[in-house]
Amino acid sequence: MEILVTGGLGYIGSHTVVELLNNGFDVVIVDDLSNTERFVLNNIEEITGRKPAFYPFDLKRRDLLRQVFEAHNIQGCINFAAYKAVGESQVIPLDYYENNLFSLINILQEFRERGLSNFIFSSSCTVYGQADHMPIDENTPQKPAESTYGKTKQMGEEILQDFARAYHRKVSLLRYFNPIGAHPSGKLGELPIGVPNNLVPYVMQTAAGIREKLNIWGNDYDTPDGTPVRDYIYVVDLAKAHVAALQKLLDSGEGTQVDIYNLGTGKGSSVLEVVQAFEKANGVKVPYQICERRAGDITIAYANADKAERELGWKSDTPLEEALRTVWQWQKYLEKRKKETV
Ligand code: WQD
Repeated sequence: MEILVTGGLGYIGSHTVVELLNNGFDVVIVDDLSNTERFVLNNIEEITGRKPAFYPFDLKRRDLLRQVFEAHNIQGCINFAAYKAVGESQVIPLDYYENNLFSLINILQEFRERGLSNFIFSSSCTVYGQADHMPIDENTPQKPAESTYGKTKQMGEEILQDFARAYHRKVSLLRYFNPIGAHPSGKLGELPIGVPNNLVPYVMQTAAGIREKLNIWGNDYDTPDGTPVRDYIYVVDLAKAHVAALQKLLDSGEGTQVDIYNLGTGKGSSVLEVVQAFEKANGVKVPYQICERRAGDITIAYANADKAERELGWKSDTPLEEALRTVWQWQKYLEKRKKETV
């Protein structure tokens, strides 16, 4: 069975492709390489011993996308392809709407025309904004997203719910909390292109001496140590949730189906706790300084992931320190690779 994975050479996408291949699926990747590098494809093959089909183009090219559907017997799609930098999305909103939503609609038009179902959408806990109560479950009301990035996630979910309702198809909306970590092989991870926006890749680069200091954006929040709290979920656990969500759609009968899952550990960790855990796990120091708050940041978010456990038989139980050990191993791999390719 062939599954289309858009953005399949990206951070979460590549880890999910590995889990799909390891579970016997055939994979067709479309990735424009705008936020990754081609060596990731070779590493996927090294890890799994299997080679996915790969097409390097922009999903806004409906003509090229149509050729992929004509060449492969695609029975489902996991859609990762999207721009995802919150701050950048405020500067170039039209690029975010065009890229994230036009790509999605192009794929759905092909699904509609060919009677296809089983579509998984990469959504985010950002759709909840600052929730009033913790932990956050799937019935927690959404709040209008502040960032254009968050708006594209909320709009994407609406588009998929209309697609499922109007054309009687099956979709699954996966709301990630904060993905972290790298593959245990040391050959896949979050590729830092430019200055990292997210906490853990910045911590990694600071420990490696690439960045002088970690800026901690505010320690005056209403949390135990004053720094914001998030639910940091190990990326391999997250990848496994995608396979479980896809299998659930494949196993269910025809007709409209909209699954929605919060994917987190159910545990909150503060920024300072992540820094301390990284230092302890890897025996390194992470110099930091406390700075002003970052615009748009919320105080606290962590998941109630009981529904995914109940309906998918899935749970993320990788400890924070173990996930952070894989990050340091990945940094060492990047350094070694850089030396070898100089
Ligand atoms: C986490 C905490 C920062 C960097 C966003 C998206 C989410 C998902 C992950 C895309 C915050 C603090 C960070 C730094 C810091 N999407 N921080 N110094 O903002 O929770 O979530 O990224 O991948 O949809 O909303 O993640 O890692 O940017 O920040 O102090 O250099 O770390 O203030 O409290 P965030 P993050």
